[in-house]
Amino acid sequence: MPIKVFIQTYGCQMNEADSEEMFLHLSARGAMRTDKLEDADAVLINTCTVRDHAEHRAISFLGRLCKWKRQNPKRIIIFAGCAAERLGNQLKKRYPYLNIVSGAKEIENFPLTLDKSGLFGPVGKAATAKPGLFAYATIMRGCNFNCTYCIVPSVRGPIKCLPAADILADVQRKAQAGAKEIMLLGQTVNAYQDGNVSFADLLNRVSEVPGVERVRFTSPHPIYFTPQFLAAVKDNPKIARHVHLPVQSGSSKVLGEMKRGYTREIFLEKVHALQANGFEISTDIIVGFPTETEPDFEQTLSLVDQARFMAAYCFKYSPRQGTVAAQMQLHSEETLEKRLDILLNKVKGLAEAAYARQVGTVQQVLMEEPHKGKTSTNFWVQTGLAFSPGSVVSCKIERAEGTLLFARIEHD
Ligand code: 5AD
Ligand code: SF4
Repeated sequence: MPIKVFIQTYGCQMNEADSEEMFLHLSARGAMRTDKLEDADAVLINTCTVRDHAEHRAISFLGRLCKWKRQNPKRIIIFAGCAAERLGNQLKKRYPYLNIVSGAKEIENFPLTLDKSGLFGPVGKAATAKPGLFAYATIMRGCNFNCTYCIVPSVRGPIKCLPAADILADVQRKAQAGAKEIMLLGQTVNAYQDGNVSFADLLNRVSEVPGVERVRFTSPHPIYFTPQFLAAVKDNPKIARHVHLPVQSGSSKVLGEMKRGYTREIFLEKVHALQANGFEISTDIIVGFPTETEPDFEQTLSLVDQARFMAAYCFKYSPRQGTVAAQMQLHSEETLEKRLDILLNKVKGLAEAAYARQVGTVQQVLMEEPHKGKTSTNFWVQTGLAFSPGSVVSCKIERAEGTLLFARIEHD
């Protein structure tokens, strides 16, 4: 009987991709996947620690598994990823029923860790992953920045780029299996460099793989969006016109204290250059960084007005042990709540405004369902006629209703 594994992933798309990779190693050792915890023989928890809340959710799930394990002590629990890296072996002391702890930096050794545990069978053939229309491809891991609020560099380590040839082979395999849209992943994805292959070169090469219709990537760092980058990608329609570009704050003073490596003006310049080339921009914003004053916060609000984001994900600052900012005096929870509230109010209309801006444009829509697909800029479109999922259809956008566009099909 194969071992049935239940996978619970917290955090970002990198973690989603890492969970897939870990599952392939488990499946090579005779495991299969289940989405029912009560049927499972093993649980893989892939964790996040970027904010305290994310870590807390993973730990409380682990706590709840105590009863599950007591029902059958042969059951296996694997705790992996960023929180596992941060908390390390103290976890096994607190949760003695935990079988394997495998930190984010150890992902390359995950197969070895499984074999050493003696809990899984010998290595055979991995399940062939069926990616569907979308597939992730991890191109780099880690981060060489040292943003003062961020725990990622300490739990993921410095940058490691995968060889371009391996990435292209991975994409080819996924495209052959039916993937049309590839999402390239990395903590600072556009810092990618392999010998003389730059990030822009890699994007262009991935877009040339037969079957690939669209290439996305996340998350980039603003400083790598140079005029050279734009020149290298601007004529390639397969490179999606949407970039998730975290700004974190609209105050140059706070950005300096965060050690982000750019000012408000530089960020806006990059955003406007991307927008001039047809890119829509979404972002992340942190409110209540320790040194953020009311005027700094107002700068963030005014940046939102100037940047014309299509979406903004807003977070209350969460101190992370070991980071520079964790030593600084915190704002009260009340200040954090108040600023978050004001900002959320400001950003809630962004998506609808962005959808409304699309009316009258012609968009290439990658169909996900017979009547529904997504534009290169990442907007949902409803088509009157039906098309097979995976096809790309040229549509004239006639109207917007909330966060849905309605289209007429363009005939050439
Ligand atoms: N507190 C709050 N938000 C954080 N982020 C990263 N570190 C912290 C922190 N300590 C946010 C940033 C980042 C997103 C993934 O999480 O906005 O872009
Ligand atoms: Fe964290 Fe900054 Fe690196 Fe992003 S660039 S992972 S925020 S240290």
